[in-house]
Amino acid sequence: MVHAAELIRRKRDGEDLAAGEIGELVLAYARGDVPDYQLAAFCMAVYFRGLNGAETFALTDAMIRSGETIELGREIGRKVVDKHSTGGVGDKTSLAVGPIVAACGVPFGKMSGRGLGHTGGTLDKLESIPGFRVELTTEEFLRQVREVGLAIIGQSANLVPADKLLYALRDVTATVDNISLIAASIMSKKIAAGADAIVLDVKVGDGAFMKTIEDARELAQMMLELGRHAGREVACVLTDMDQPLGQTVGNALEIRETIATLRGAGPPDFTELVLSACAHLLAFSDLDLDEEAGRERASAAVQDGSALAMYERWIAAQGGDPAEEALPTAPVVREVAAETGGFVRAIGAVAVGMAALRLGAGRRTKEERIDHAVGVRCLKKRGDAVTADEVLAEIHARDDESAGRACAEVLAAYAVGDEAPPARPIVLETIA
Ligand code: URA
Repeated sequence: MVHAAELIRRKRDGEDLAAGEIGELVLAYARGDVPDYQLAAFCMAVYFRGLNGAETFALTDAMIRSGETIELGREIGRKVVDKHSTGGVGDKTSLAVGPIVAACGVPFGKMSGRGLGHTGGTLDKLESIPGFRVELTTEEFLRQVREVGLAIIGQSANLVPADKLLYALRDVTATVDNISLIAASIMSKKIAAGADAIVLDVKVGDGAFMKTIEDARELAQMMLELGRHAGREVACVLTDMDQPLGQTVGNALEIRETIATLRGAGPPDFTELVLSACAHLLAFSDLDLDEEAGRERASAAVQDGSALAMYERWIAAQGGDPAEEALPTAPVVREVAAETGGFVRAIGAVAVGMAALRLGAGRRTKEERIDHAVGVRCLKKRGDAVTADEVLAEIHARDDESAGRACAEVLAAYAVGDEAPPARPIVLETIA
């Protein structure tokens, strides 16, 4: 029998726990033998005292053992690659990366999540496509990766059930933002989902969990170690989340931007991030390419139309209508005009994410329904010159009242000044 109160006390007092003790605690919690209040106290002790490397391995391992695992590579008969982002505002990267990588001939099978708070979720974005099914059985998922080369679905209920419970608990006990807990949560799901090689996009800045590059490096390093410990190839890109990614924030708007990017007409920051992730994934694949050749191959798939064709095949395979005209549109579109001229010095990512959420693009509770049509288009990005009255952004809303509120919020999110800010690349660092 696990003695939860004793383990909480020892962690509270700064002791290191044995791997077996952490494993027992987590598995007992997943079985329902340890109540929420004890795990909440344990998470708070971890928040203040931290976990060392061995404890974090043990936590990750126990979370994986709490449910089923998939051997994707063995099932598909090929090396399978995956990517994961730690979450941000306007982050639709997987939606463009999947079709490009698959068009290059590398199978891409991914389980994604939903948005909560100011960050969006890949599944919510996909559900703005009429007919699209995010829930496939494991057999259907594997068949689609085998036959189409690409599937993105919701996480199966049996995959890392301990994380589902623990994440929901952390979310309401102010214990999400701890590096060991985040690393174990993300990597347990990635390892259990079975890809052989994983590219991790660790967001840094206002709209990200990691506000500083130092914290982002620490999280990246921890996730690399967890992945390698489990025999996976892993690379991390640390990327800018101090402003929304690309122009759009909101589900159908982000699908439109994805389609534009697959046509070669995407915004520069988003296009750069997508190509960089594809280059890493293709270098990890069994195609025998280095990163430079991977990037060339990815660009060629966009230029020759094969990435867009793959997108259409994939969406149709999951029951969706790939035509852009099938996407919902918002009845009210309002422009946000600059009050003064100068340069855009900053755009608050959280503020824009929250404005989109309040328009209905996200949910405040797990039960809330999403309005897929609404959101924000940031037409001007950091460093752009603007004149007074020039349009900074567009609000796509359900009605006039919510549009008016969002206009004020988005205007307040823009900082316009006399001097251009220093240039900041989208990919800040790569750790491999
Ligand atoms: N994403 C996850 O899946 N888990 C965390 O703890 C944080 C971000």
